[in-house]
Amino acid sequence: KHVEWTAEQAHKGGYDHFMIKEIHEQPRIIRESNSTSIHSGVKDAELSGILSLDPPPSILILACGTSYHAGLIAKYLVEELLGLSVNVELASEFNYHRHRTPEALAIVITQSGETADALLAMRRLREHGTKLLAITNVPGCTASRLADETWYTGAGPEISVAATKSFTAQLKVIYRLLLSCSRLERRDFDRLTLALRLLPSAIQGVLDNQLEIRSCAKYLASCSGVIFIGRGLNYPIALEGALKLKEVAYIPSQGYAAGELKHGPLALVSKTTPVVAVLGRDTTHDAMLTTLREIKVRGAPLIAIAPKGDDGLDGLADYIIPRPEVDNLVSPMLNAVVLQLLAYYTALELGCPIDMPRNLAKSVTVE
Ligand code: G6P
Repeated sequence: KHVEWTAEQAHKGGYDHFMIKEIHEQPRIIRESNSTSIHSGVKDAELSGILSLDPPPSILILACGTSYHAGLIAKYLVEELLGLSVNVELASEFNYHRHRTPEALAIVITQSGETADALLAMRRLREHGTKLLAITNVPGCTASRLADETWYTGAGPEISVAATKSFTAQLKVIYRLLLSCSRLERRDFDRLTLALRLLPSAIQGVLDNQLEIRSCAKYLASCSGVIFIGRGLNYPIALEGALKLKEVAYIPSQGYAAGELKHGPLALVSKTTPVVAVLGRDTTHDAMLTTLREIKVRGAPLIAIAPKGDDGLDGLADYIIPRPEVDNLVSPMLNAVVLQLLAYYTALELGCPIDMPRNLAKSVTVE
């Protein structure tokens, strides 16, 4: 069949927007980074030295925006799998309080490597003698020059202001970082390696079955506020889902830890405020169902993103977006893709300027 593309469309690989093009690039990026080396700098030995210290060192993670959500996920993973304690801070907040006990290692996550808040934090930490590890997408960026060691996300240029592929690529690097640590137990190493190998086809599975996501987006486009909830590893994904919807569809959205709902946000729940619940198949599952029942009693429309065949949701959720089953350790990546698509199609429905939302910039180089 003869396909006619304008120059503009060709640039976008035939997609209408960079955002959806970049969403679709994710299986390839994740697959490629399974087989390539992604770190640079001569000091890896130093890094693994720091991570193997006894007693264990404390770690600080700094980031902004979407990258901060990757940082929150990293905290859960590092604490769970390596048994190290991690602080995660927004770089913009970190810069305005006195840092009394400098950590041995700070990991700075920044897609662009040029975010002023992150760079300022790096400069301050260098003065304290903290070792700096940058996770970034842009070779030669300022963050990589300030860091002792840089791990590249290898997502390729990201044009859409809303971060998508760079986020999952950051998560991928975080998993690779865990795999490189001698502290990681053999069985966790094997488990994670297998989970990452199976992930690209699971993501492809989400991209190939967008029916439920699109009908859900149609509904969300009619809403004036949306609540996102998750627990554990998927709590940061709830934050990210809400951020994406705010950024591209301009719908006031808020992400919460599901357990926090009863401490305030439950007052927002009503028949006209849908709740998007991000579920995994893990120890948080039953607690999530309890929260969902509390929401259901209050009449709020419930949208659940869950592994296929989650019987607990029958009769509870109004919309179920089933996604392929993956190891729970990597479920944030898959759920993130679902929420990216949800935000994209909602924005499309509303006719928003998806790639360049009002008031936002791809890289914020002022404090
Ligand atoms: C801007 C972008 C966001 C991004 C944030 C952090 O606000 O619009 O998408 O998450 O900066 O950017 P960085 O390049 O440091 O990851």
